[in-house]
Amino acid sequence: MQINFQKLPLALKPFILSLFLSLSFLAFLSLQTPRHSLHKTTAKSTVLPSNLRIRPGYSSYDAYIEHQLNKTLNPKLRQIWTTRDWNRKVRVFSEFFENLKVRCFLSNDSKSLCVGARVGQEVAALKRVGVNDSVGIDLVPYPPLVIKGDFHHQPFDDNIFDLEFSNVFDHALYPWTFVGEIERTLKPGGICVLHVSLSGRTDKYSANDLYSVGPLKELFKVSELVEMRRIDGFGLDTEVVFRKKKK
Ligand SMILES: C[S@@+](CC[C@H](N)C(=O)[O-])C[C@H]1O[C@@H](n2cnc3c(N)ncnc32)[C@H](O)[C@@H]1O
Ligand SMILES: *[C@@H]1O[C@H](CO)[C@@H](O)[C@H](O)[C@H]1NC(C)=O
Ligand SMILES: *[C@@H]1O[C@H](CO)[C@@H](O)[C@H](O)[C@H]1NC(C)=O
Ligand SMILES: *[C@@H]1O[C@H](CO)[C@@H](O)[C@H](O)[C@H]1NC(C)=O
Repeated sequence: MQINFQKLPLALKPFILSLFLSLSFLAFLSLQTPRHSLHKTTAKSTVLPSNLRIRPGYSSYDAYIEHQLNKTLNPKLRQIWTTRDWNRKVRVFSEFFENLKVRCFLSNDSKSLCVGARVGQEVAALKRVGVNDSVGIDLVPYPPLVIKGDFHHQPFDDNIFDLEFSNVFDHALYPWTFVGEIERTLKPGGICVLHVSLSGRTDKYSANDLYSVGPLKELFKVSELVEMRRIDGFGLDTEVVFRKKKK
């Protein structure tokens, strides 16, 4: 049916016009993305840098946390991490931290945080090399080295730490929040050291996949990339060092 708007009686025009407008609005609404799952909303409402992909499949934040806890709470694994694995991991972490000292990113006076520290071998390593004021956070505490805390919502005030170390960037469901929280709790001039994989490593507990350092440079809003080098760190191949700007 063709409607010639010009020929309609004058009194009808506002009705036809408003009908047309409301139909267009309904059509517009029906074209909007349905917001069924957590993943869809986060992936579509946030523009992610290329070379960083959030893994699909988590139906809710609770499902993501439950998945992470499944491994972290495993009693057999916790037994191994705190016995057989302990010395080897503390030794390797100590070498990384000694190296950061030589490069002047870390000193015995640095107040330090390890993000996603599990049973805290990395915290033990910091203390071993003389960085006494060190603590870790993880979903599961392991006192006194590791206290309970979600890295998407760190349990600390702003501008607290001189150094934050983490090798769990790939476990972040919201990488921009993971980085934002680190930048929030670092002091101006503070250092963030991340061990990441750029080689498409597949860990079934990872929540994102990173393929280059580019996305990190975009996620760190108030910091500068100061160094990057290849490493062999428990399956992670790259060390990046960011420094929070002094403003
Ligand atoms: C691969 S493990 C690394 C453990 C430790 N950094 C190491 O190298 O031995 C990943 C850790 O991240 C923790 N994790 C995962 N999601 C987290 C979250 N949202 N907040 C804090 N920790 C989290 C897990 O509980 C797990 O202990
Ligand atoms: C966690 O593990 C339990 C048993 O091992 C399993 O039934 C459950 O589905 C797992 N949950 C997730 C989120 O992987
Ligand atoms: C830092 O602490 C370590 C271990 O206690 C010690 O050997 C080293 O001399 C200290 N470094 C400085 C510069 O004080
Ligand atoms: C750090 O702790 C070690 C071991 O407890 C201790 O020997 C050292 O004096 C402490 N360093 C400082 C600066 O407090």
